[in-house]
Amino acid sequence: MADRLIMKLSVRDVRTETRDVIVINFLHPRRPELPAWSAGAHVDVHLPDGSVRQYSLCGDPKDRSVYKIAVKREADSRGGSAWLHDNAVAGLGLHVSAPRNHFDFDPERGRHVLVAGGIGITPFVPMVRQLVETGQDFVLHYCTRSRETAPLVTELEEICGAKLRRWISEEGTRLDVATLLSAEGNSELYVCGPLNLISAVEDAALHASWPEERLHMERFTALANGDFEPKPFDVVIASSGKEFVVPADRSLLSVLNENGFAIHSTCETGVCGTCECEYLEGTVQHRDVVLTPQKRKSKLMPCVSRGKGALVLDL
Ligand code: FES
Repeated sequence: MADRLIMKLSVRDVRTETRDVIVINFLHPRRPELPAWSAGAHVDVHLPDGSVRQYSLCGDPKDRSVYKIAVKREADSRGGSAWLHDNAVAGLGLHVSAPRNHFDFDPERGRHVLVAGGIGITPFVPMVRQLVETGQDFVLHYCTRSRETAPLVTELEEICGAKLRRWISEEGTRLDVATLLSAEGNSELYVCGPLNLISAVEDAALHASWPEERLHMERFTALANGDFEPKPFDVVIASSGKEFVVPADRSLLSVLNENGFAIHSTCETGVCGTCECEYLEGTVQHRDVVLTPQKRKSKLMPCVSRGKGALVLDL
């Protein structure tokens, strides 16, 4: 829950990668090295309108001189990707957070099966680099609509060689997730991409009784509210015994902040992981897309998650 370092970085260069993807390299204007990061990490990019977007780092963690991100111009975005496409030029200054990693990646765990869809390829670039460097067994399945819309593919071909498998829907090839999972029973499974791909992998993993600790997903899209109906609940602060009511129309985060707990937040949609808190007792309705099932046993994201009955927070 510690505040996250935010730096004013400069755009070093911008490259057009595909028709709708640009690659941006950020550097620190005065320091030769940026904070260290690990494969799978992402940064928050703060835009001039006050909005914040998360982007996975797709460079080489050993190169501390730049943070490299790939940005897809999303037709239905909230404007962040379009702003970067229209305004990012060399020399532009933007606030960028220190990296954070919710993708629990350890190359030493055995065979890795990586499944990427479109721009969801970005966190896998440093991962495959590390897997190759450490001589680990892996396969990267890369699903895209066409050859032309596959970002970073040349780099991946160089890194992965035959371990890169491409699935191109316009050419009639599609990854059969159920068959893949039945053939890869003892692997670490990672997925990042559009919601339909993540859901397909999640469903197939459930059907295959895939161990939850070996399924790793990264989403940058908040859960749809659907039929979720927020209800009021009580929260108890363990250190002081103070109690508050969280009304149905307010978040736990806003009630905590109003009562003097300065909890830092960025996205307020359960996507970035900034507001993470620990709880000691109670049943949580988790509404984030960040925490693993294991972490959900003791942590919650108060910007979106709620209690069912009383919650005791470790504050
Ligand atoms: S502020 Fe981003 S997860 Fe809560």
